[in-house]
Amino acid sequence: MKTRVGIIGIGMMGSTHLDAYSKIDGVEVVAVADLIKERREGSATVAGNVEGQSKGGIDFSPFRKYEEGMDLIADPDIDLIDICLPTPLHLSYAKAALAFGRHVLSEKPFALNSREGNELAEAARSSKGMLMCAMCMRFWPGWTWLKDRVEDQQFGKVLGAQFRRTTCHPGGPFYSDGAACGGAILDLHIHDTDFIQYCFGLPKAVFSQGYAKETTHIDHVVTQYMYDDIPLVVAEGSWAFQPGAPFHMQYTVNFEQATAVFDLAADSVLTLRKDGEATDIELPEGMGYDHEIRYFLECIAKGEKPAVIHPESAVTSVRIVEAEVESIRTGQPVYL
Ligand SMILES: NC(=O)c1ccc[n+]([C@@H]2O[C@H](COP(=O)([O-])OP(=O)(O)OC[C@H]3O[C@@H](n4cnc5c(N)ncnc54)[C@H](O)[C@@H]3O)[C@@H](O)[C@H]2O)c1
Repeated sequence: MKTRVGIIGIGMMGSTHLDAYSKIDGVEVVAVADLIKERREGSATVAGNVEGQSKGGIDFSPFRKYEEGMDLIADPDIDLIDICLPTPLHLSYAKAALAFGRHVLSEKPFALNSREGNELAEAARSSKGMLMCAMCMRFWPGWTWLKDRVEDQQFGKVLGAQFRRTTCHPGGPFYSDGAACGGAILDLHIHDTDFIQYCFGLPKAVFSQGYAKETTHIDHVVTQYMYDDIPLVVAEGSWAFQPGAPFHMQYTVNFEQATAVFDLAADSVLTLRKDGEATDIELPEGMGYDHEIRYFLECIAKGEKPAVIHPESAVTSVRIVEAEVESIRTGQPVYL
């Protein structure tokens, strides 16, 4: 039997997830919910940062349509509830879906703060449904390659790693409300904080500098993540650039014997430089969203809790971001 999915929030990420489900066998989107009529009826699409994301062109006619997300959660003929709501709603909607025993995929950040994140992780422990936070970089082609090379040490140890995710402000009420989105530091830069934690473990401390510009929260940050065994790990995140500034998603990782450069906008997205030669690395098709959704569906099919990203680990990423905010506020490194 196909896994039956209901998606709550058909904005930028809901449309992106809808695209992803449409490419996968063995799954069927049966219901959608959005307060905005045009969105739940599929007559409006919302563009994203990444080319090819949120393409639209999906036939909404077979879907059961709900205005309010809680009504979709109460629909008994759904196995997996996919929550693409604004961040302040992740906790209450994910908890409600888990209380109904549904599996839940919830967009990042896991929650608005680590206290709410812990509450959600606790709710997942006592539900028969599984919960996965959609931390898509853990599944992004080229980033999974990096995780593998960090683990197998094919090119030696990591000496320095630099991550960069910068663009202009996305606009709209949710992203303009710092208390709702958490600023670029929680909404955008958490992707790199999370990936750094996934690759290198919990840093000993973070030292951050940054400022607010588009919201009341931090909209441009540079953080040094301090480890005993890696000399340099740094990430920059911003949506404070001038309107029209392109989206950059990049890393440069210097191993003892090779340098890997990822640039989403480059013709060759991942290049490895070793022994004076540059090699283009071939990567699997698709974006992190496609792979994360396939992975969670496999976990559901096998009845295995997702090991790549478990709720406690998603909370840890929120906790590290909180330490980064505290470091900016105090001008001091914050120990974790
Ligand atoms: N993984 C990523 O790369 C990524 C990228 C962008 C956004 N996000 C995250 O995804 C989440 C959603 O962001 P977005 O850009 O799609 O926002 P959005 O504003 O485009 O979409 C949210 C939708 O939820 C609907 N909604 C709000 N309350 C509702 C309710 N009670 N019932 C039904 N519908 C309701 C709104 O009408 C809206 O259409 C945020 O947490 C954001 O941080 C993740």
